[in-house]
Amino acid sequence: VLSTPPPEGARRPRGGPSDAVRIQAAVLIAWGSRLFESLGCDAREAGQVARGLVDANLAGHDSHGIGLVPQYVDNLVAGHVRAGRTPRVVVDRGSMLGLDGDRGFGQALGAAAMDMAIERARTDGCVVVGLANSHHLARIGQWGEQCARAGLASIHFVNVRSRPLVAPHGGLDARVSTNPFCVAVPDEPHPLVLDYATASIALGKTRVAVEAGERVAPGRLIDAHGAPTDDPSVMWNPPFGAILPFGEHKGWALSIMCEVLGGALAGGSVQDGATAHPMLNNMLSIVFDAAALCPPERRREEIAKLAAWVRGSPVAPGAPGVMLPGEPERRAAAERTRLGIPLAPATLAALEQCGAQAGVGSPRAGSA
Ligand SMILES: NC(=O)c1ccc[n+]([C@@H]2O[C@H](COP(=O)([O-])OP(=O)(O)OC[C@H]3O[C@@H](n4cnc5c(N)ncnc54)[C@H](O)[C@@H]3O)[C@@H](O)[C@H]2O)c1
Repeated sequence: VLSTPPPEGARRPRGGPSDAVRIQAAVLIAWGSRLFESLGCDAREAGQVARGLVDANLAGHDSHGIGLVPQYVDNLVAGHVRAGRTPRVVVDRGSMLGLDGDRGFGQALGAAAMDMAIERARTDGCVVVGLANSHHLARIGQWGEQCARAGLASIHFVNVRSRPLVAPHGGLDARVSTNPFCVAVPDEPHPLVLDYATASIALGKTRVAVEAGERVAPGRLIDAHGAPTDDPSVMWNPPFGAILPFGEHKGWALSIMCEVLGGALAGGSVQDGATAHPMLNNMLSIVFDAAALCPPERRREEIAKLAAWVRGSPVAPGAPGVMLPGEPERRAAAERTRLGIPLAPATLAALEQCGAQAGVGSPRAGSA
């Protein structure tokens, strides 16, 4: 299938490929929890990892969903991720908190780090938290949402110590990774959540495209010779190509700030050409009590005024209307909670193989 995906979250139906098998979120969470427990996580951690992944599927981000299980299992077997780790406090100075994740599961470390940040921001008004050396923190929006549920605003800069994947603006080969950036603002009934990779396409989405037999939109990838391509397999088969930053120099500059704030300033490390780890994240989070500067009622009024104003724009042909950050994920979650999560045949086959090896059976079993 050759297809040109429209901008993520804008027009692409979140249904997944047409031959996808749908499985309910609760079934996938139960299966994933059993699998991670069988590999050495305690029940709480196994549940956090499985739920975190499936929540990404619910949000429509299959790139960060249950399809990552085989990679997580490989990383666990190779010692790149370790079960049972909690954030180790390395700096504790008023509103500055430095944590080291010791390569534990990001889903557990991220939640614990945000709990600490929330407690500190509630007393001090603001906290800057560095979480270094975490295994994959997955969908960064989940950390913004955790803060927003506590009534706090947050900004998150993340770098990725995977093999380099993203070419510099003006460069022809991969030098940094997909470095995600997130801003979350509490609001009722839903928070506003900006959460994306600074690359023009998340690596996981090239995997999803390969598994679905699809091409990606032009202008996102270059091949190993630096030539533009729409073939997502250049990211998976050597000699590797590279992803371009989003928005030309603007995305590139933001990516560098994620590298510097998330990597250098948070106490972790930056890209230097040596592949340090297949899936390591460092995150710098600024979490603050928005109500300290603007009373919640006033904030609600201002955001409602803005939303009404921007939504009043005439709808462009083919567009679903003007949305606010976080809205596509909520729409996807409503649909997928009702219909189940679509898994491409190749994704399901990989999960079934993992389940068989771990002795926990197929994720399909619970849905029968
Ligand atoms: N942990 C890691 O190392 C890592 C690396 C890269 C990406 N990620 C994660 O991958 C996920 C997907 O990233 P992505 O770059 O593919 O995201 P994306 O391109 O789908 O953009 C998603 C963001 O854009 C907003 N959005 C989408 N359409 C919109 C519209 N029409 N109007 C207003 N806002 C809109 C969404 O609400 C969301 O905030 C993210 O959760 C990110 O954190 C993680």
